Amino acid sequence: MAFNLFDAEDRILQQAEALRSQLAEAPDDVRAGVEALIQGFRRSVREARRLVRVSDRLHDQLARANHELARRKAEAEEALARLQDTQESLFQAEKLASLGGLVAGVSHEINTPVGIILSCASHLADATVHLRSLFEADDIGVEDFERYLGTAAEASRLILSNSERAANLIRSFKQVAVDRTSAERRRFDLRATLDETLVSLVVPLRQAGHALEFDCPPGIIVDGYPGALSQIVTNLVMNALTHGYDAGQTGRLTLAARLMGDFLRLDFADDGKGIPAGQRTRIFDPFFTTRRGQGGTGLGLHIVYNLVTAALDGTITVDTEPGQGTRFIIVFPTAS
Ligand SMILES: Nc1ncnc2c1ncn2[C@@H]1O[C@H](COP(=O)(O)OP(=O)(O)OP(=O)(O)O)[C@@H](O)[C@H]1O
Ligand SMILES: [Mg+2]
Repeated sequence: MAFNLFDAEDRILQQAEALRSQLAEAPDDVRAGVEALIQGFRRSVREARRLVRVSDRLHDQLARANHELARRKAEAEEALARLQDTQESLFQAEKLASLGGLVAGVSHEINTPVGIILSCASHLADATVHLRSLFEADDIGVEDFERYLGTAAEASRLILSNSERAANLIRSFKQVAVDRTSAERRRFDLRATLDETLVSLVVPLRQAGHALEFDCPPGIIVDGYPGALSQIVTNLVMNALTHGYDAGQTGRLTLAARLMGDFLRLDFADDGKGIPAGQRTRIFDPFFTTRRGQGGTGLGLHIVYNLVTAALDGTITVDTEPGQGTRFIIVFPTAS
């Protein structure tokens, strides 16, 4: 049986109507009064029913709105999940693309020295065959022999220097692929690790005649990759020595570490030549070098960038003006 909210009111009305029929003999004003009471009560019950209907309707609307809200929330959550998936695959695609570019770059870079090695070796082989045939025909003159010695010396010099360049490229390329899992992770004392790194750089620093000021508070413990940190500092110092100054110029380098809450800030600066505006945005790109053909592979800062972002989970920025020196600022969490 359907639940009637107005059961009690209906019963009162029935009782009132029964009362009214019993009042047939009563004076007119009493009957009129009872009739007015019944009508008044009926009106108020009607009004109450109307209010209940309105409230039911509002309740329905609210339920529908809630339902709609829940549906949209689910939709938004799904869209967010899809977006995160897309972002992840974009990130992977970007990594693949940059890896593809890097592989193409390495092949291109290695192609030059390997090509030179090949042509020198075949030139040397030809010259040797020629000398042997002269020798076997007993027709060898002093000039032939001298020419051959010259060719052999030049070819072996080129073979050596280009092999060295190819080996350099391969060594650098191996460092580009920063792999957190293969690197050694541990808790280490920041000052001790940086000190050790700088000790290994004393000789090139002294040879170049530069002073390095090191400033790091004691007792800072980092949970991370000391090898990565050491490689970053080494690359930055070697870059300052290689690119920062003209021969004979003495410079002042500074390395300062500061703890800022849960983050560390490493600040490495030289007071050398600086980097022109047009090159500033490209220095972290693989193979960007201003010393091509003079031993530069252009992978040094790319490796630094990868180490900072992937191994230290940090950021690196450069601040430099021509003639105003170069400053690298690295910020990373003490526990990544
Ligand atoms: N301290 C610095 N002062 C001036 N220029 C710099 C400095 N550090 C880097 N650069 C510029 O940034 C370029 C890229 O540096 P990066 O370390 O990537 O390559 P590289 O030193 O030329 O070669 P590699 O490190 O492979 O031997 C350099 O060729 C140089 O022009
Ligand atoms: Mg370098």
